[in-house]
Amino acid sequence: MNVPFNRIKATWPMVEALTKSLGSSVGFEPALSHWSGDGPYTQLVLEKLSGLIPDSMLLMTTSASQALEMAVALSGIGPGDEVILPSYTYASCANAILSVGATPVFAAVTPETLCLDPNSVERLLSPKVKAVMPVHYGGVPADLGALMALCQAHELTLIEDAAQAIGSTWHGRALGSIGDFGAISFHDTKNLTSGEGGLLLVNASKQAKWDQAQIYHQKGTDRLQFLKGQRDRYEWVGPGVSASPSELLMALLSPQLDDLEAINGRRRAIVRRYEAVLGATSVPEILSFTKDDPSGNGHLFFVRFRASAVAGAFMAFMQSRGIDVRTHYQPLHASPHGRAFRCDPALFSGLDSDLGKCVVRLPLSQHLEDSEIDYVCEVLKDALIHSHTGL
Ligand SMILES: Cc1ncc(COP(=O)(O)O)c(C=O)c1O
Repeated sequence: MNVPFNRIKATWPMVEALTKSLGSSVGFEPALSHWSGDGPYTQLVLEKLSGLIPDSMLLMTTSASQALEMAVALSGIGPGDEVILPSYTYASCANAILSVGATPVFAAVTPETLCLDPNSVERLLSPKVKAVMPVHYGGVPADLGALMALCQAHELTLIEDAAQAIGSTWHGRALGSIGDFGAISFHDTKNLTSGEGGLLLVNASKQAKWDQAQIYHQKGTDRLQFLKGQRDRYEWVGPGVSASPSELLMALLSPQLDDLEAINGRRRAIVRRYEAVLGATSVPEILSFTKDDPSGNGHLFFVRFRASAVAGAFMAFMQSRGIDVRTHYQPLHASPHGRAFRCDPALFSGLDSDLGKCVVRLPLSQHLEDSEIDYVCEVLKDALIHSHTGL
């Protein structure tokens, strides 16, 4: 049997919504004919998201990468400033910091969760540091209690990279809505997807930033006021970007939001299956693996090996049995472009620098069949118990 790493599927409600959004050109409901951004499906998606994330003001974007860039720009960070982020993350986090001329500073992650380590952040603080950007890896909350305390004590902006965390919470509050800004992704590797897509979250207490964000999002114009009938035309009033996703993408996303609980529930059930197999064996070569977290969204399942050679042998074994497993981020501090930026080598052991080759992710999607998950568990047991991989 072949099991893909991820599976995306169009459901009938998605096809129906997409057809409606195509509108008059295919003979359906001309009133909905609107292909650019900020139309009725964007409105519908925002209404559904507001129910889920009541503590934030929300803007749809074409990606989480773009939402992160907007968050950094709206924070007022610029040349000469520094932002602390985990080294173990996607390049988009560092690119967002570079996009305003600021400098990324790489911190370590905690071994269990692979989320930003607050102790590492504390050691990197300096007067130049203006913000901290934790990543909620796998949709599991980073240590927000400690990170918020640090940000408050040092008057730093907190930008949550919740790219993988749609539907995850921290003490009942949606991830992404707790710091000053947050970013969520709807890329097709995520729990909900419009192919490409993202969401910028602005904390509800930041009214002035919100006013600025709405203009920035509309290419630096007061077009929103024009659309509300408050202006007879719109004009350029500040800096901005073109960030609204097409209505066609929002039509794909909208029905999925109705199923979010079921989707995340199914993913968490798969996480528990894998966790049970890993938990039943004691393999010294495995340092940690994903644990089901009731506040998480079952975004991914990782197994972290002590040595890259064993991780490689494990991957080869799984792949030889038709199971598509993947590594994850090459740590930024050890990447060709990342080596130029500030990084305290004492924070990173050889293990941290090798993380990209030592973390292996198992197949995970709400669309994987029970028979496929059974098969992955069987092969996983085979790999762990029968030492086929040198474990
Ligand atoms: C932690 C993290 N941040 C940001 C992104 C970028 O998301 P997008 O593809 O929506 O730009 C990703 C993508 O996987 C990610 O894993």
